[in-house]
Amino acid sequence: MIFAQQNGRTSIGAPDKLFGVSSKAKERIAQIGKENVINSTIGVLLNDEGKLIVLDSVMRCIRGLAPEDYAAYAPILGIPEYLEAVKKAVFLDEMPEAYLEVCYAPGGTGAIRNAISAYTKPRDKILTSDWHWSPYDIISAEIGRKVETYNLFNRENKFDYVDFENQLGKILDEQDETLIIINTPAHNPTGYTFTSEDWDNLLKSVKKFPEKKIALLVDIAYLDFSGDAKEYRQFFKKLIHLPENLLPLVAFSASKGYTMYGMRCGALICMASDEKTAKEFKDVMSAECRASWSNGNRAAMTVIADILEDDSLFADVVAERNAYMKILKKRGKAFMQASSKAGLKVCPYDSGFFVTVPCQNAEAVSCELQKMNVFTITLGPGIRVSVASNTEEECRAMPAKIKAAMDACK
Ligand SMILES: Cc1ncc(COP(=O)(O)O)c(C=O)c1O
Repeated sequence: MIFAQQNGRTSIGAPDKLFGVSSKAKERIAQIGKENVINSTIGVLLNDEGKLIVLDSVMRCIRGLAPEDYAAYAPILGIPEYLEAVKKAVFLDEMPEAYLEVCYAPGGTGAIRNAISAYTKPRDKILTSDWHWSPYDIISAEIGRKVETYNLFNRENKFDYVDFENQLGKILDEQDETLIIINTPAHNPTGYTFTSEDWDNLLKSVKKFPEKKIALLVDIAYLDFSGDAKEYRQFFKKLIHLPENLLPLVAFSASKGYTMYGMRCGALICMASDEKTAKEFKDVMSAECRASWSNGNRAAMTVIADILEDDSLFADVVAERNAYMKILKKRGKAFMQASSKAGLKVCPYDSGFFVTVPCQNAEAVSCELQKMNVFTITLGPGIRVSVASNTEEECRAMPAKIKAAMDACK
């Protein structure tokens, strides 16, 4: 370090792996043409022409904003219309029986940051699955917390609740509070969705530590692209009437569901079982927001509020989104069918933007794949494929190539 302080950071300044592979993919495309390269490095939903999908109905709403919607400050916790709209966007017409409070955050990222910062102490360990979105580590490290992991899948490729409980127990042997991040439905990077049984097992484990304070943060970044809206929200019902030492939190993001990635719009929701905890949430969030980004993006909040206040506009957004979700589902299905055919073992994918192929020598396999003009991201012992950014045809073609690359590296 020259002037900046190290502050526990060990890898800053190292080349960005994702950027590196994606630049190589672009170079190859320039050499041999788009039709001869599969670029599966991009983490957003693209159409079959490789362009970012943007919902027209959301764009109409953005174009209709008034100058003050952009220019004026918003209250620290968010404009009241937005706070109501978020509840509706997340729970639809099945409002949970809980003391609900909402706080604006710049994307799901900000919501996750606030949750970790408010409900754990410096040097605390938090818990998530071994396969996880890597910014959880960065967010935690930057505020002096550490991510510990449990095996998401057991040998039967089912939720490993035994390891979950073991790892939670280890953390709680050392500290009186922790936060658990569960990214479901349509988990990044595996596409796994917690089943009703998984939730029951998880909650049974968590309830075994009645003397500890546990915040249970559900990261629902991909909820609106996971499947039937009602069915994929059923798990919320399991998060009410829990013991007092458990606090369910939800990280909402408008990035995917409303294709507002760049507008930085999300929220943290608290589903408290009593009024005092709900009030405390608002108080602590005011401090968290003020000390990190202060006021939020009023224009983005107004867009979400306008959509959720207008039934017909909301119906347009849902219809448009569902049409794209159908395309995404087809891509995921094509990848999974072709994997079975090729004898390629993949993590249990249900829905969402990504599929993960476990493999110990992921770096070598990824290099081998690049020789076949296929570009993917390596994640420790695995390869992440972005079905969201590839055509159905590409999704059908990739598994055999990955299997061949794995065989070549044996
Ligand atoms: C698992 C997961 N959680 C949260 C987010 C947060 O996204 P944003 O901050 O853009 O809302 C992402 C974005 O890629 C994600 O993949």
